Amino acid sequence: MTVPKFGVGTFRLKDDVVRRVVSDALELGYRAIDTAQGYDNEAEIGEVLAGSGVPRSEVYVTTKIKPPNYRRDALLASLRESLEKLRLEQVDLTLIHWPVPNGEVRPEEYLSALAEARALGLTREIGVSNFNIAGLRQAREVLGDVPLATNQVEIHPYLQNRRLVAFAQEQGLHLTSYMTLAVGKVMGDPVMQAIAAAHGANPAQVALAWAMQQGFSVIPSSTKRENLAGNLRAQDLHLTDEDMRRIAGLEEGEAARIASPESARPVWD
Ligand SMILES: NC(=O)c1ccc[n+]([C@@H]2O[C@H](COP(=O)([O-])OP(=O)(O)OC[C@H]3O[C@@H](n4cnc5c(N)ncnc54)[C@H](OP(=O)(O)O)[C@@H]3O)[C@@H](O)[C@H]2O)c1
Repeated sequence: MTVPKFGVGTFRLKDDVVRRVVSDALELGYRAIDTAQGYDNEAEIGEVLAGSGVPRSEVYVTTKIKPPNYRRDALLASLRESLEKLRLEQVDLTLIHWPVPNGEVRPEEYLSALAEARALGLTREIGVSNFNIAGLRQAREVLGDVPLATNQVEIHPYLQNRRLVAFAQEQGLHLTSYMTLAVGKVMGDPVMQAIAAAHGANPAQVALAWAMQQGFSVIPSSTKRENLAGNLRAQDLHLTDEDMRRIAGLEEGEAARIASPESARPVWD
């Protein structure tokens, strides 16, 4: 699988803010961008990518299909529209954004349509997001030999998702951690601050290194160039076993979950 271990997230970022963030990120050396149809910023990202001078082959672009587009025809048409906005012939990775377990469109339909999008060359790889273990098993059945490149899920020091992580490891399925910084909460945490101080780092870098050391890809977002730059340097930080044990102790379980829209979420593991 080729999902890069580090990318920039773009949730909540729009218009000139997303233009500036993506432009800064590319200048700083980011080579993976995470967007979604639902973020309403694909066109701005496409504009920046086209003008960046960074060769297409060096950037890994992920988008996600939003639930209103889950019917087969809508999924394919909406992905073509995403490609137009992103000014690309093919995205690197397309995810089903949320499983929507009680929605009108069954997983068999949207997963088959996603595999069809891959076969048509609209996306190089496919994956899912916010899927639980049962959903992943079902996806495996529907997709047969077509590989799932990742399951992008909320994982941070306060929500470590251990059952899902164990299942993914057992199945050889790659995970991407989103909201790795718990949307900034790690910055004020005394344990994270102490570990950071011991390494001459900051708590954001510690959280990112913690996730990467478990094999997850990360896609932190920031509106500030210095934070984008600092976050990228987390790749040079190596945490000790004792650091990892201390962060394991920060788990708060379900109470710490941030993203969980009632209409779209599965029963969390
Ligand atoms: N698949 C899904 O359903 C899903 C759901 C949520 C998110 N995501 C993806 O995951 C990405 C990351 O999630 P997120 O953006 O919600 O949360 P996040 O990356 O955990 O946190 C972003 C927040 O942390 C702050 N921050 C970042 N770096 C910092 C630093 N070095 N020092 C201090 N503060 C820092 C940012 O503030 P500043 O702007 O002030 O730096 C921002 O408020 C999203 O952008 C999106 O691409 C996917």
